Amino acid sequence: MVRFLPTKTASQVDVLSSASRSDFHIAAARKAVLEYFDAPSDEYACIFTANATNALKLVGESFPFREGSSLIIPADCHNSVSGIRRFAEAANARVEYLESTPYGGFREEDAMVGSFSRLFDGIFGLFTEIQL
Ligand SMILES: Cc1ncc(COP(=O)(O)O)c(C=O)c1O
Repeated sequence: MVRFLPTKTASQVDVLSSASRSDFHIAAARKAVLEYFDAPSDEYACIFTANATNALKLVGESFPFREGSSLIIPADCHNSVSGIRRFAEAANARVEYLESTPYGGFREEDAMVGSFSRLFDGIFGLFTEIQL
């Protein structure tokens, strides 16, 4: 049960104003990130997470993998990217690794003609390419 106090104490006023100041700055930061990536806000959401590992876990947990969908991962990716396969496997999705070049990374052409085209045969697919 919530009991509303009839008047605000000085500390309540401080909490309210610092909360609304935080809201203001978070909204401004979200807007700046979306603008930086040229990402329209009606198509993309900017979500702040504790770190990269946590962000990728959120992607794995929330992506609608199911039988017939695919996850494509570069073979030399970071462990946190590779960890997404657990969510795909649990949903009986196909997991595919893109072979690495001798210098690391993968050839974009290979991804486009091979795995990438198979990705779109599936129901839902996730292609992971993380650039920092
Ligand atoms: C894809 C990826 N995941 C995880 C990490 C680890 O960083 P964090 O401590 O932010 O999880 C890195 C670091 O570069 C990364 O590139």
